[in-house]
Amino acid sequence: MQISQALSVTLHDYHPRAADMREEILDGLRAQQKTLPCKYFYDERGSRLFDAICELPEYYPTRIELGIMEAHAADMATALGPRVLLVEPGSGSSVKTCLLLEHLRAPRAYVPVDISREHLVAAADRLNRRYPALEVLPVCADFSQLFALPLPRRPAVRTVIYFPGSTIGNFEPVAALQLLKRLRRLAGRDGGLLIGTDLQKDEAVLERAYNDAAGVTAAFNLNLLRRLNRELQGDFDLSRFRHRAVYNRAEGRIEMHLVSLDDLTVNVADETIRFRADEVVVTEYSYKHTLSGFAALAAQAGLAVKQVWTDDRRWFSVQYLTAG
Ligand code: AVI
Repeated sequence: MQISQALSVTLHDYHPRAADMREEILDGLRAQQKTLPCKYFYDERGSRLFDAICELPEYYPTRIELGIMEAHAADMATALGPRVLLVEPGSGSSVKTCLLLEHLRAPRAYVPVDISREHLVAAADRLNRRYPALEVLPVCADFSQLFALPLPRRPAVRTVIYFPGSTIGNFEPVAALQLLKRLRRLAGRDGGLLIGTDLQKDEAVLERAYNDAAGVTAAFNLNLLRRLNRELQGDFDLSRFRHRAVYNRAEGRIEMHLVSLDDLTVNVADETIRFRADEVVVTEYSYKHTLSGFAALAAQAGLAVKQVWTDDRRWFSVQYLTAG
């Protein structure tokens, strides 16, 4: 771990090494069913494209979750209690966090955790200027791996992990369970988890959200190959792959694919990978939960659902979970 002073904030840096990325990418491309880990979407350009996705008319989750936060942040702050240490894994632009921070009573510190260093430092710097009394302690890390929490100057009553955006949906059930257990441990005995989960709904709504008319999600998906070209000396021809997103009803998840248009040979990270025409590379799963299904998953992780906030149509939920 490296500590560095960037802009107005001190960064705790656990950034994954290039060697880890190389191995993960190659493991996925060598497999019978090719996959690429969705966490690598978020380079500088990918993070910007994701921010653009959140503004799309078809992409309802951000808008609806924001509406839930606007309507209920005060209630949530009461549930969380005073003097908390607020930790946000995968913080991105930290937009929804401001709504929560405005209502929290005397929060001790805010710890945004993100894999995209530039994005993280810029967002932490913005927050530091907006809330000068709040200690902001950014951590650059892959939150699905272990990392230590920085200590705030003033001790907190409890640690609350804020995990909005339905990012939990990007983990397959076994990995989601492991992640929930890890977050529970990170929050500690008296801690809590305030989490956003996207809910099951009409398939057409779901498929539109991941196949937007402006093609931003397609650009976001294909950007992964652009990143491999740049960072792992790949020679993917992006025009030979197309984006596809389909709802898998049996599994309750949107699947994002990159489909090769022809038989192709690609070099990446000193290896040669062959693609058949129409071969699918799975780049992301986005699980859509039911309230009861998610409560059962949380219970397996030793977490109890204390409170649930939803919109009128029950398209999205924000839930407060505590240990035991
Ligand atoms: C970050 N995550 C919750 C988004 C989702 O909806 O699964 C990522 C995304 N992929 C395509 N559009 C948005």
